[in-house]
Amino acid sequence: MAIKALVFDAYGTLFDVQSVAGVTDAAFPGHGEVITQIWRLKQLEYTWLRALMGRYADFWTVTQDSLAYTLETLGLAATPDLVAKIAEAYDGLALYPEARQALEELAPLRLAIFSNGSAAMLKRLVAQAGIGGLFEAVISVDEIGVYKPDPRGYRHVEMRLGLDRQEILFVSSNGFDIAGAKAHGFRVARIARLPRETLRRELAGAGTIGPALMFKALRMQPEQLGLDADVSIAALTDLVSYAARQNDRHQG
Ligand code: LAC
Repeated sequence: MAIKALVFDAYGTLFDVQSVAGVTDAAFPGHGEVITQIWRLKQLEYTWLRALMGRYADFWTVTQDSLAYTLETLGLAATPDLVAKIAEAYDGLALYPEARQALEELAPLRLAIFSNGSAAMLKRLVAQAGIGGLFEAVISVDEIGVYKPDPRGYRHVEMRLGLDRQEILFVSSNGFDIAGAKAHGFRVARIARLPRETLRRELAGAGTIGPALMFKALRMQPEQLGLDADVSIAALTDLVSYAARQNDRHQG
């Protein structure tokens, strides 16, 4: 089957979650790196726990709760107002440098986002990056009330787009999301932001493994769940030739 639509994960795939570091470090000088890493690790952990418990609360709540956990653990005092203010950094994340060009070149295909972000967060995120016009749909897990990688989410995306699952190329850099999309039966492209060899070199060369490197080791490599992506590419712009090749093969 030809690829008719590309569906993108948001946080970590189109947008760089590490770009909150300026905000966390400005709020607590010298602690930015550790806050940024624990916060993101906990944020996703809370989505999985809430999914397992059947206790959905939207990603804005989870983003604030995970930041509150981080600051409390590190002994850094913060009022709820300050927590909310820092959490707003997730609405201002930087778009990966090649993302706009990739999306513009892919635009003849149908493009959508499927994300854990709440509908309101995603609206702000996409608007500040000026890429809203490129997507036919920005789909939040709010619509089903359960986080990725619950299979109901990917099924919902398929229904929203009215396509066969094999007509959808799902794009993510998050290992758990890749596994979830693959388990559902989507075609999946992994954006490999950090080649294994580079990470190994960094780990071998580090005297002490700090928070940023620990994060890379935990979250930036493919999972060992027997659900690998169909293709692993270095940048979003590589999707243009990949999708064209797949669709040429289909026609030929
Ligand atoms: C998202 C998370 C997985 O955008 O980063 O859904």
